[in-house]
Amino acid sequence: MQIVLCDDAEQTAREAAKWVQALLVHKTRPVLGLATGSTPIRLYQELIQLYQQQKISFANCTTFNLDEYFDIAPAHKQSYRSFMQTQLFNHIDINLQNTHLPACSQGQNPRLVGLEYEQHIAAAGGIDLQILGIGSNGHIGFNEPTSSLASRTRLKTLTAQTMSDNSRLFSPDEVQPTMAMTMGIATIMDARYVLLIATGLGKAEAVRQMVCGPVSAYCPASVLQMHEHAIVVLDKAAASLISDQQYLKVAEQENQRMIEIYGLQFIAES
Ligand code: F6R
Repeated sequence: MQIVLCDDAEQTAREAAKWVQALLVHKTRPVLGLATGSTPIRLYQELIQLYQQQKISFANCTTFNLDEYFDIAPAHKQSYRSFMQTQLFNHIDINLQNTHLPACSQGQNPRLVGLEYEQHIAAAGGIDLQILGIGSNGHIGFNEPTSSLASRTRLKTLTAQTMSDNSRLFSPDEVQPTMAMTMGIATIMDARYVLLIATGLGKAEAVRQMVCGPVSAYCPASVLQMHEHAIVVLDKAAASLISDQQYLKVAEQENQRMIEIYGLQFIAES
């Protein structure tokens, strides 16, 4: 894991944006994996700014979102499709036909929808860079604790912890979905690069388990220890429970020195 330590959430977003920028600049047909939730909002704002400054374009970019609530209309204000439109797609030059979410309605077979999503990702050439947040229970996507490390896109029931964490986003008169379609852990692991962002003390214990704990289905994010190119961008609060802070700082200085000399190590043009 390459751990990038930042002072605060703003710097975290700027650091993460550099990786997305590098992908969009270096690849002719980039495939970007996207996340929803509170954490990537600042990153999306950075990307919108870079787009407005004409430093990046999404015109040739294909996107795949990690997850979508089960049986929710795309136009519903709580759908992740709506989130993506509001937070990113409405403000950039992406072709909406190239944006994908694993939407599944009541009348559809979730297994077939999951399989088709996997096929679409494969047909696009695989995901170059997958953006991730982390749940306070260590989930990535909606792969809740106990999810198979070999899982693929499928329907998952949300844990009480996730329901409670996300209840802040729903008003009392809104029904909070209990199930979601999510990329599986193996789907995420197939991405050439993964870029996980975490900010705030509420994520510190999950981050500790992801970085220092054993690889375990009980902390799905810990599987990223097995990923060849996992970049983990943390603010001070989210990194605060990682043991050996001194080493993290020294390694980060070395990383920055390497980046200054050689640029971001990134996917070669293909
Ligand atoms: C979102 C997703 C989730 C979130 C995680 C953190 O598409 O798949 O894993 O990344 O729940 O959410 P926030 O950022 O709201 O704390």
